[in-house]
Amino acid sequence: MNALSAEVHRFLPTTPADPGFGVYVHWPFCAAKCPYCDFNSHVRHQAIDQERFARAFAREIAVMAGRSRGLTVTSIFLGGGTPSLMEPATVGAILDAIAANWTVAPGAEVTMEANPSSVEAERFLGYRAAGVNRLSLGVQALNDEDLRGLGRLHDVAQALKAIELARSTFPRLSFDLIYARPGQSVASWEAELARAIDLAADHLSLYQLTIEHGTPFYALHKAGKLKVPDGELSADLYEATQSVTRTAGLPAYEISNHAVPGAESRHNLTYWRYGLYAGVGPGAHGRLMGRLGRHAVATEPNPERWLQMVEDWETGTTIDDALSHQEEADELLLMGLRLTEGVDLKRWRQVSGRDIDPTVEADLVAQGMVERLSPDRIRATPAGMLVLDAVVADLA
Ligand SMILES: C[S@@+](CC[C@H](N)C(=O)[O-])C[C@H]1O[C@@H](n2cnc3c(N)ncnc32)[C@H](O)[C@@H]1O
Ligand code: SF4
Repeated sequence: MNALSAEVHRFLPTTPADPGFGVYVHWPFCAAKCPYCDFNSHVRHQAIDQERFARAFAREIAVMAGRSRGLTVTSIFLGGGTPSLMEPATVGAILDAIAANWTVAPGAEVTMEANPSSVEAERFLGYRAAGVNRLSLGVQALNDEDLRGLGRLHDVAQALKAIELARSTFPRLSFDLIYARPGQSVASWEAELARAIDLAADHLSLYQLTIEHGTPFYALHKAGKLKVPDGELSADLYEATQSVTRTAGLPAYEISNHAVPGAESRHNLTYWRYGLYAGVGPGAHGRLMGRLGRHAVATEPNPERWLQMVEDWETGTTIDDALSHQEEADELLLMGLRLTEGVDLKRWRQVSGRDIDPTVEADLVAQGMVERLSPDRIRATPAGMLVLDAVVADLA
């Protein structure tokens, strides 16, 4: 165990029975739009008035805190877009507003996503001073040709420097890679992954490239100009990912997330264990309790419209829907089956008011898609993880 993984145990753990309460903050701007990305991210050619945005974040934080009184924040996640385009003072103002409006647990995890360009790395110390204690770095690939192909603005040398700097600045570090890239073979991915594991601390997010509707990659793919691994090769790449990370002591705890046991992302576990969370900023999603039970809450995605809404009405909330028992049960299953620890069926029964259909389950077990870990816990097998939406649709 290296120094970073020892450090992680100081951070507040959560459990399946007590999934914690998270605050997600969305920074919606990027320096350039990556051709595969369909996240709520926008490029602006004029300077962003960060002080004005920080004031708006503080106002919406007060509104969301008013809707979740009595809950203690166990994790904060600054995601994007590219949050590392924020000045440290903006990050400080947002974290201060969270601490002023909620009780934040000692040892709470405070993660920030960052891109590894040198300009952004220069701000790492400032982010640490503002209260960030975990960095999630968007490395994506460890060869320059593929980084260019993904439209990234950094090269491998910058990524390596950013990893080194992040390791000496933050108590916890994770980085992201995208695999199943055009032209990638199992052997080249295994070699790249082994190098990534050498560089990593105790957590890695490894995402299969998805061709998202409406992106430039989608148009290229449709026109036959972008060849990505087919189903069989993708499954082989996924299996290689599981096996290399398991052997290295960072097994999967979720479809795309791998950690030394104990170093999992508390914030993401809150989502997958179906805890409550508040979403703040343009296009942020939350799950909060309302008078009729759990609500799905979401805000206006367009940054400038969101800003105007907050300035006029304190929040950019556009969706605030009470979930039916069935919707809640479906979400619980969809989230929980992503996890290696699986889903608590007692809780599913409480929410849905019924049992899993034994015939459907027996079919899925026979096909090798799901397995019971105990009388009250079910999980997807690695084969089931590859077709999770279909498995959930069958079970739900
Ligand atoms: C939306 S980004 C935000 C963080 C930061 N802007 C970045 O690019 O690293 C979060 C992660 O989503 C992943 N991602 C985005 N689009 C994807 C896609 N189409 N396929 C696979 N992974 C994707 C990337 O690995 C990225 O690190
Ligand atoms: S992948 Fe990250 S940097 Fe690229 S457009 Fe999406 S949010 Fe922005």
